[in-house]
Amino acid sequence: MIKLDYRNVDAMLIGEENGLDIESSFNEYKDRITHIIADLNKRKDKPGQWLQWMNLGYSEETVWYVKEYASMVEGRFDNILVLGIGGSALGGLAVTEALLKPYWNLLTPEQREGLPRIFFLDNIDPDSITGLLEILDLKKTLVNVITKSGSTAETMSQFLIVKDILERELGDDYRKNVVATTDKKTGILRQIAEQEGYKTFVVPDDVGGRFSVFSAVGLLPFALVGINIDEITNGIKDMDLALKNVDIRENIAAQNALIHYLLDTRKGKNMSVMMPYSSRLRYVADWYAQLWAESLGKNKDKDGNDVQIGPTPIKALGVTDQHSQIQLYNEGPNNKIINFIRVEEFDNVVEIPRIFEYTGIGYLGGKTINDLLNAEADSTRVALSDYNRPTVTITLPKVDGYNIGQLLYMFEVQTAIAGELYNIDTFNQPGVEQAKNYTYALMGRAGYEESAQVLQSKMAPV
Ligand code: PA5
Repeated sequence: MIKLDYRNVDAMLIGEENGLDIESSFNEYKDRITHIIADLNKRKDKPGQWLQWMNLGYSEETVWYVKEYASMVEGRFDNILVLGIGGSALGGLAVTEALLKPYWNLLTPEQREGLPRIFFLDNIDPDSITGLLEILDLKKTLVNVITKSGSTAETMSQFLIVKDILERELGDDYRKNVVATTDKKTGILRQIAEQEGYKTFVVPDDVGGRFSVFSAVGLLPFALVGINIDEITNGIKDMDLALKNVDIRENIAAQNALIHYLLDTRKGKNMSVMMPYSSRLRYVADWYAQLWAESLGKNKDKDGNDVQIGPTPIKALGVTDQHSQIQLYNEGPNNKIINFIRVEEFDNVVEIPRIFEYTGIGYLGGKTINDLLNAEADSTRVALSDYNRPTVTITLPKVDGYNIGQLLYMFEVQTAIAGELYNIDTFNQPGVEQAKNYTYALMGRAGYEESAQVLQSKMAPV
């Protein structure tokens, strides 16, 4: 199982002003945490609670359909192109980057064992869209368009562009190159899919975009590139079992949620840095940033009070960002908690050759890059603690499907528990919807005329 080490949050180590008395904090919140965990598990099957993501690890039906489709199209496509944004893309990016061989898309078909390359188009930059479409042979590409709402402007505009090219190249047969993942009944993409006869997968009810990675949103692309999705669901299920424990001393999601909450509300640490020491986990930090930001950044609490709360997530990569952000984290405002993610065993051990004997670099010869990486993670943690900065360390035995399933599910539960501690609605995103609606208005979507007028007046040049 993955582990959480919170010793460097202890007030004994980093001082009263910045740290917590963990024992007394756990005691103080023991009953509240017990109630939160029991309540989440009680409510998870009720419609309208947006907690269906807690059941995704057990959805054998989805796994079956995903595998069946993946084996049906096996060998037919050179590329998978995922069209989606936010929660419809970040989980896919995080998991494929973690579990596929590094530089997957640069490997030869033989090195990929005939499996397709995978591309995520999660932005609408005209140059990158053009660039990608120039290198992809769409005839040999399976396009997985993913949008829960079925109408997100970015995703649907990408889709319209790609569909147009596909249809011109393949005629009616273009349909075989499209698979849509969307709501089972509602939304424009659902209507189009039915009208055009696309293969479809469902974003289940009561699963928000940022909690959807273990639905078909993520599982389908994973299976299409040969990732073992059973390993992932085994990890989710084992973590789910562990996190059903209502005792905070045994529940790492509750521990990290409470630590973040108390450090924010009592010690002014309102920023949460996610810093994996593994390049393969770099997009886990992006995924976490969305999960944490959209779930916890709210201006009303559940009782309708104005609160404007939410810790700001920051993504970083060890060791790269030691040479970019650590100066700030050590000496700048003491307003952050840093989450290190450590990997115990990498797939490879890389030795550093003993070539030069200069004092400044001679010591490196004969060691491994693995030793260096771990030494840097340790030294950064200790240095931060010398500067009285709180850190926690999450350790993965290795980067594989089982541990990735555990890690991402642990963060989801941690987010849900933190939301309860803040007493906010973790699962809505009115701030995102507002900007989406303004975009519709600006682009002339019917029904948004009033917003368009408001916008024109606000945007008028001064
Ligand atoms: O987490 C969320 O709900 C959002 O980030 C959505 O995933 C994002 O806005 C895309 O929405 P949709 O899947 O409806 O296209």
